[in-house]
Amino acid sequence: MLKLHDLEFEPFISNRQIEAAVEEVAQKINEDFSGKCPVFLSVLNGAYPFTAALTQRFKGDCEVEFTKLKSYEGTSSTGKLKNLIGVENLKDKHVIIIEDIVDTGNTFSEIIKILEEKEVASFKIATLFYKPEAYKKEHNLDYVGMEIPNKFIVGYGLDYDGLGRNLPEVYQLKQK
Ligand code: IMP
Ligand code: MG
Ligand code: MG
Ligand code: MG
Repeated sequence: MLKLHDLEFEPFISNRQIEAAVEEVAQKINEDFSGKCPVFLSVLNGAYPFTAALTQRFKGDCEVEFTKLKSYEGTSSTGKLKNLIGVENLKDKHVIIIEDIVDTGNTFSEIIKILEEKEVASFKIATLFYKPEAYKKEHNLDYVGMEIPNKFIVGYGLDYDGLGRNLPEVYQLKQK
């Protein structure tokens, strides 16, 4: 049992299972990007452990960059605009976006919209976890480590209100 802030969590996915999922994704990316020099674009904060594990398994030259989706108030009354920091040097590059989890897909589709304006050569997405029941977008997910049910999880980069990112395995919210 794990307690973070006010909530209780229980073990869900072992580190061994996660490593096996990372290995599978890495093999596919190695096949698809053989002889190319992709840029792995890691979406902070949650993607940091997956980024390390995945890029260390890449055989060949690659670059690793980090980005963060920053919300800020727009000048119009329509509310929030989103901005991506750290994506200045992607022109003509083969970009692989690295995400911790795709849930509704809202974050990911914001990122795509911004990248489409950067004149990249191509982009793919690699996500460690994917909740198909929650996904509301059309875009195909190129590399998925593991599909999970629509449950709240923490660990291996994922947080609950700032806590739990450091855990090597994944926990799910305990059913009351
Ligand atoms: P989306 O925009 O709904 O696809 O989800 C985007 C972000 O919500 C992810 O990058 C995570 O930071 C967070 N998130 C979604 N599901 C979970 C979860 O189960 N645990 C922790 N964070 C989550
Ligand atoms: Mg950094
Ligand atoms: Mg994320
Ligand atoms: Mg979070």
